[in-house]
Amino acid sequence: MLREGQATAIQRADYQAPAWWIETVDLAFDLDPAKTRVLNKMRIRRNPDVPAQALRLDGDELNLARVMVNGGGSSFKMDGNQLVLENLPEGHEPLDLEIFTTCSPIQNTKLMGLYVSEGTFFTQCEAEGFRRITYFLDRPDVMAMYTVTLRASKNDYPVLLSNGNLVDEGDLDDGRHFAKWVDPHKKPCYLFALVAGKLVAREQKIKSRAGRDHLLQVYVRPGDLEKTEHAMNSLMHSVAWDEARFGLSLDLDRFMIVATSDFNMGAMENKGLNIFNTKYVLASQSTATDVDFANVESVVGHEYFHNWTGNRITCRDWFQLSLKEGLTVFRDQEFSMDMAGTPSARAVKRIEDVRVLRTVQFPEDAGPMAHPVRPDSYIEINNFYTVTIYEKGSEVVRMQHNLVGRDGFAEGMKLYFDRHDGSAVTCDDFVQAMADANPASPLTQHLQQFKRWYSQSGTPLVKASGQYDPTACTYTLTLSQSCAATADQPEKLPFVIPVEMGLLGQDGAALPLQLQGEAVTSSSHTLVLTQAEQTWVFANVAQAPVPSLLRGFSAPVVLEYDFSDAELLTQLAHDTDAFNRWEAGQRLALRYALQAIRTQGEVASDVMPAAFISALRDVLRHPTLDAAYKDLVLTLPSESYMAEQLEVVDPQRIHAVRESMRQQLAVALQADWAWAFDAHSDTGAYRPDPVSAGRRSLTGSALLMLCLAARDSSDTLWPGKTYQRFKDAGNMTDRFNALSALVYSGATLAQPALERFHALFRNEPLVIDKWFSLQAGACDRGGNVLPAVKQLLKHPDFSLKNPNRARSLIFSYCSANPGAFHRADAAGYVFWSDRVLELDAINPQVAARLARGLDRWRKLAEPYRTAAREAIARVAAKPDLSNDVREVVTRALG
Ligand code: ARG
Ligand code: ZN
Repeated sequence: MLREGQATAIQRADYQAPAWWIETVDLAFDLDPAKTRVLNKMRIRRNPDVPAQALRLDGDELNLARVMVNGGGSSFKMDGNQLVLENLPEGHEPLDLEIFTTCSPIQNTKLMGLYVSEGTFFTQCEAEGFRRITYFLDRPDVMAMYTVTLRASKNDYPVLLSNGNLVDEGDLDDGRHFAKWVDPHKKPCYLFALVAGKLVAREQKIKSRAGRDHLLQVYVRPGDLEKTEHAMNSLMHSVAWDEARFGLSLDLDRFMIVATSDFNMGAMENKGLNIFNTKYVLASQSTATDVDFANVESVVGHEYFHNWTGNRITCRDWFQLSLKEGLTVFRDQEFSMDMAGTPSARAVKRIEDVRVLRTVQFPEDAGPMAHPVRPDSYIEINNFYTVTIYEKGSEVVRMQHNLVGRDGFAEGMKLYFDRHDGSAVTCDDFVQAMADANPASPLTQHLQQFKRWYSQSGTPLVKASGQYDPTACTYTLTLSQSCAATADQPEKLPFVIPVEMGLLGQDGAALPLQLQGEAVTSSSHTLVLTQAEQTWVFANVAQAPVPSLLRGFSAPVVLEYDFSDAELLTQLAHDTDAFNRWEAGQRLALRYALQAIRTQGEVASDVMPAAFISALRDVLRHPTLDAAYKDLVLTLPSESYMAEQLEVVDPQRIHAVRESMRQQLAVALQADWAWAFDAHSDTGAYRPDPVSAGRRSLTGSALLMLCLAARDSSDTLWPGKTYQRFKDAGNMTDRFNALSALVYSGATLAQPALERFHALFRNEPLVIDKWFSLQAGACDRGGNVLPAVKQLLKHPDFSLKNPNRARSLIFSYCSANPGAFHRADAAGYVFWSDRVLELDAINPQVAARLARGLDRWRKLAEPYRTAAREAIARVAAKPDLSNDVREVVTRALG
């Protein structure tokens, strides 16, 4: 329940154009950690298109000293957090407005606005942080030209950065100096940034395809310079890729990335001055894993691509967030796939992306925070930087890509920029451009209906059934769709669902596809499902086929088809679509898991039948499949994915079944794992490319399996070998995989290995994060994880104020280790509520993320359900909660 005086929901339907425009902003900062002075001179003008209104400027935790209009004093009043100017001169002449405020960056633990991290000033303004720096029209549709002057102690803050070009710098009195920056592009204030501190930069001069010279810089703390090569390479690749694939060039002379270890999210696309969490910049072979390297490449790409999709064309209001985020995630996913190169490496990336969508976004869509890709209302916008906006948003763009084709998509992008460059627009504007550029496409034909992907929440369910007629040699495929009511919307209308499919013979060979009355279309075809139910007839089908449906995961839906085990084994052995080949294995594993979960009594040790184990052995031993792909096929569906398939969830039962299945795989394939380890463990000189990374990930899984198998036989050979590999590893991936194998298998050597690891990397914060996270994510044996986590809370290296560290310990336990978190004694939930409350007083954004950890409490079996509700209610009972956490827990209980 919302109490009186608390924030109410903002509605998309209430959007109104701003009554005033801000044309230019001239900001002068006197930087001081305790008290920074900000002089903000704006040239403003009434918007002639809307009725005259007072000027209402947003502010948050500011000290206001002075307001002047056209050089003279002005009357003003405060309305809550807003500064209201009612008696401004009439007419449409521009006015000069000057506002002088101070703020205290050192006390800013929310990490929104201007804050200090390890002695360096940083800003984070998206979504509504600029109002914590000065009074402003803090909304993305107000775009202005910025000039910024920074003044600070030269000794303490030798580097002074802001957006755009450095036009002047020099020394001042008292050991201070200044720098003046002018951004040549107009921008919304959420893209403003400044950085001031002791930093060093890796620099690279490049010439673009268009022939323009640019300076690229990656700024870090002095000791970290040698960890920036990969980020710089990723940035150069991003620049080249956007030119090659979309004809989009860098529009700035200088492009800067700066890393900070205190950051709420991954990174931020401020114009020309991206600010990154160190986690997504720093990478060296001795401190970063292959996954870290891949993440750096993808986040550097993501932020760089925002320069066009987000910055040049921005969002009209925050309901349109997916306009820039969904599209930019699509672009970074494509970038990573293009960089990966081979079809197999592309498929691996696709599978990884779909896994995130299904294990995180599908539950979001089915839970209390369900919202459309373009939400209709919110209380706290920071709560809507979600997997739905980002990952589902990307899938919605991907469907458009598939419906208009690769070239058609490029045409659509061109039209989008022709129409909207330099403005703040809506999701509708994007789809309209895509459709108008491709008049003959199915997207255009079904445009209004396609837009339901933006307005309706929930995951559609597609049911398929097939009928083979041996006399007529026809195969009739029927697809039907439905979408269950979600927490936010009772009624759903049919979606436009592209279903890419093929048919396999019983021996696995691809059959030619010929829709009745049409020509043969090769072996893969996209059916566009628009009705509640539709039927397609394929002609000249020589034998009863095995349908391969939703290839490449062509739409973000759940696909149900009554496959026999034999049909799935055929797909697992032969499907030419790498995604569906993997999917067949996942379907089988899930099927056996669910059977065992639903069966009463002791969990069997042979949950999976021999035929499936042997099919998995064939994949593991396959002569030509990539190691990375094999590793994905041999990885069981996660506990949270299993939970989503059930009406009532007993987390301990799920955990026990999955553990038993993993043990079965470890023991039954012991010799094969040993072979896999020997065959893949030498990857030569370290390079983070997908092929050698795949070999390392398969070797890591093999070690874990061999350590697990050793538990059954109390053999010490493999734990010993694993410890040796941990000690001798030449890179972090091998070292960390070996350490994880010892920890997850509960080996006696885990403890000495953890101690050694900490001693080796005590001065590497990102590695110490891994050390915390590994222990918090360990496999629970007799309830041992929670006491360990509580002990680690007291470790001198732990700090709740640093988001990376808080995530590494607390989120790894509460949100990523269901087997240890859901305790029958409710101690996990009590721990969770304590941490949510504690964090909320420091950093509401991070606290609200943690608060999402019990979103799915309603599905839990007793005694978990009641205990979880009590824990949420305990959080909700606190009177002075942030809007962030209040919105999450209110929805959870609602
Ligand atoms: N626009 C950033 C990105 O996705 C995310 C920033 C979100 N920040 C926030 N405080 N909610 O690249
Ligand atoms: Zn983004």
